Amino acid sequence: MSRLIIVSNRVAVPDAGSKAVAAGGLAVALKEAFTAYKGLWFGWSGKITDNPSSEPVIADRGRVQYAVMDLSPQDHREYYSGFANRALWPIMHYRLGLAAFSRADYAGYQRVNRIFAQALAGLIEPGDLIWVHDYHLIPLASELRGLGVSNPIGYFHHIPWPSGEVFNTLPASTELLRAVSDYDLIGLQTDSDVHNLSRNLVDELRAIPLGGGSLMVDGRRTRIRSFPIGIDVDGFRQAAERAGMNRTVRDTVAGLRTRKLLIGVDRLDYSKGVPERMEAVERFFASNPDQRGNVVFLQIAPKSRTEVPEYEQLSRDVNEVLGNINGSLGEPSWTPIQYVTKAYPRAVLAGLYRAARVGVVTPMRDGMNLVAKEYVAAQSEDDPGVLVLSKFAGAARQMPEALLVNPYDRFEVAEAIRAALYMPKAERVERWKPMFERMAREDVDWWARSYLGELEGFRTVEREPPAE
Ligand code: G6P
Repeated sequence: MSRLIIVSNRVAVPDAGSKAVAAGGLAVALKEAFTAYKGLWFGWSGKITDNPSSEPVIADRGRVQYAVMDLSPQDHREYYSGFANRALWPIMHYRLGLAAFSRADYAGYQRVNRIFAQALAGLIEPGDLIWVHDYHLIPLASELRGLGVSNPIGYFHHIPWPSGEVFNTLPASTELLRAVSDYDLIGLQTDSDVHNLSRNLVDELRAIPLGGGSLMVDGRRTRIRSFPIGIDVDGFRQAAERAGMNRTVRDTVAGLRTRKLLIGVDRLDYSKGVPERMEAVERFFASNPDQRGNVVFLQIAPKSRTEVPEYEQLSRDVNEVLGNINGSLGEPSWTPIQYVTKAYPRAVLAGLYRAARVGVVTPMRDGMNLVAKEYVAAQSEDDPGVLVLSKFAGAARQMPEALLVNPYDRFEVAEAIRAALYMPKAERVERWKPMFERMAREDVDWWARSYLGELEGFRTVEREPPAE
């Protein structure tokens, strides 16, 4: 059995004694892949230590081995908080005004990618497939190739890839374009991401399109394709069905009495459009005064990247918007917006989604957005709720039956909330069913299988030895 090496910035090593793959986003996504391959999962331990070792700490957990590295405070500041999250993240999400570029941060980003590549190279065996995830690690393939690694190396970019007009504002843009084209296979979420990156490679690096998504860039061949990520539809649906027993879900439903629930669940990130959504809800109550007291909007938003100043500012902005809305519209017996920054287990979220008449998923920009998919998976087939979805989420491409909205337009979002609340059952079922069926076909196993099936094809490619 050949080995699959997953590389991601964050690695959650499951507790000793547990043979299970860790719970959570990517771990759930790769569960099935690890039944077809033996696994090695490499990345940051999540720990910051003063003098981190240059050797990874290895932990064996059943068929998956974990190899994790600590970061120094400087690495964490420059690589993770700085370049990845203050430069790449805002630019990839089209928020030029929020981007902060610094040469020191970029040097830290390159340094950590080099340290990771050096530590990983010693663990790679000839038959291994290497699959790198997300924007923290764009230069990893170039570093590995420089160390003589000739295995297939793929990259999956979980977030949007913007047009060249936006991407090229990043001072390191040309180097990053070169670096990304060192991967054999570049997976993106949507066809428009594929278009943006391919077009930019042609314009900036004079890449030559070879058909079928392949391009020749500086004498190397790369392939760029979309592989929209899915969820574990069956697992999530079952969790939603069982969640009625859960205390938090039961208490929330009981507390609603006859009120209808609107729900939003996001990491507290400016790409998610949380304050804008709250203002849209305010607009809804302003133009539908008869609904005051009858509807509650629950926003769950665990804090994220709190050391990054733009995230702290967002947190303050949300508190202000929320306070103003609840203060001006609320009554002693009714709070229009309930806001919770605690993180809940997936099983609880599944139950809350099922209890909500409307899922309000209105990111300003999002690679895919799995909350939209989870909301749909959690609905009961006889009486499903309605999804209000931003047209700037990658998920919108696969979910045209949702009420698609422009999240910058509070009026449009407010109108969609109204339409969702008044939608007759027959129409709700008619919209929900095709979305659910498509998601069940294009689930997370389909995603991993399609990507890895294609990466397998690069085993036979002859690679030049690295330049001296
Ligand atoms: C997005 C990114 C992931 C990241 C996650 C949480 O989904 O695509 O790579 O892990 O956000 O962000 P954090 O900075 O806490 O890892």
